[in-house]
Amino acid sequence: MPTNTQAVATAAHSGSAATEAFRESAGRRETAAADSARIDLVARDLLSRIHDVIREHHVTYAEYQAVKQWLIEVGQSGEWPLFLDVFVEHVVEEVATSDCHGSRGTIEGPYYLPGQVPLPATATLPMRDGEKGEPLVFAGQVRAVGGTPLPGVQLDIWHADADGLYSGFAPGIPAGNLRGVVTADEAGHFEIRTMLPAPYEIPKDGPTGQLIAAAGWHAWRPAHLHLMVSAPGYRKLTTQLYFDGGQWLDSDVAQAVKPELILRAQTGPDGTRHARYDFVLDPT
Ligand code: DHB
Ligand code: FE
Repeated sequence: MPTNTQAVATAAHSGSAATEAFRESAGRRETAAADSARIDLVARDLLSRIHDVIREHHVTYAEYQAVKQWLIEVGQSGEWPLFLDVFVEHVVEEVATSDCHGSRGTIEGPYYLPGQVPLPATATLPMRDGEKGEPLVFAGQVRAVGGTPLPGVQLDIWHADADGLYSGFAPGIPAGNLRGVVTADEAGHFEIRTMLPAPYEIPKDGPTGQLIAAAGWHAWRPAHLHLMVSAPGYRKLTTQLYFDGGQWLDSDVAQAVKPELILRAQTGPDGTRHARYDFVLDPT
């Protein structure tokens, strides 16, 4: 939980920083073809389902105007990436990976940043002196569907700190903190030292948080590691790993938890957590 006042007070900044990061990622994204028939089909169906909701629930003029105001605020505060990744991305991911046979993926979320420090197969993520939290050693192997260990694997890893905050988004955290790009060894093995992340709470001070509060929902995601695992000739896996027994596993606001993605960490004699996960990649 964000226990210090700075964490809570500065959370709103994360939404607008996520919009900046999204704009800067334009060059790396696949472009959607401007196919008129496709746009007609999807846009018309989407609007028609909104019309159905208005009819079914007798949405009033006052509610319609309140929604308009709220949508304006989501845009002005830069929270569209945050809102969409938390409430919509999980279904896009489900559809996109429905033909995969390897490890389960899940949402990328709004807090990925490219170009992080390259690290060897056995590595410690960049962290502050006296970085808060419990030490974690996360190790495993990357193989192909069928079992062949893969050479040339990159594991791009990023996660929140022990206050549930991400470097590059919440201010006051050094650039690149708890982020790195690990190259696994020739047999796909890796061992990454870091600090256990805390659960993440959607900033309460922006329109996404206001909607959540107004609806009486909670704004939490269980503690997680983000990973993008890639190797030449294989489909890039975007996933997250969670921790057995962690809070919010059964009620993730982003609906991004899958049972296959829950790590069973063991605690060593010195208190260090050890977790293992073997990734399986699909060929392209
Ligand atoms: C959001 C934040 C995350 O850390 C994440 O993994 C997914 C979504 C969000 O605030 O939208
Ligand atoms: Fe996250």
